[in-house]
Amino acid sequence: MSNLISLSVIDLTGIKHHIEAPTDMGLNLMEAIRANDLQIKATCGGMALCASCHVIVKSIHMLPEMSEDEEAMLDEAFLLNIPNSRLSCQLHIAPELDGLEVELGKGTGE
Ligand code: FES
Repeated sequence: MSNLISLSVIDLTGIKHHIEAPTDMGLNLMEAIRANDLQIKATCGGMALCASCHVIVKSIHMLPEMSEDEEAMLDEAFLLNIPNSRLSCQLHIAPELDGLEVELGKGTGE
């Protein structure tokens, strides 16, 4: 059985990239995006401290609830009012995410 899931990532120029990510390597979505050579700032390296890995979830998926840290960071960065905002570093690559489509948020570029 394959342990790869398929994801779609819309970059800041509006281009959709289809990527795959393994579910058994402990990756988060931000790391999977980077591993596919897509630009994502992610300044804090996945600590839920910067919001520069912000994504907007476009597909209908049951995602894990936000931790208090994730919610607080999105709130502080004024991103919580953008529907379906998440920090990609806080979304762990798991089988439930197969088919997920996200758009990179504005703060993720240079
Ligand atoms: S990489 Fe900084 S909050 Fe996700």
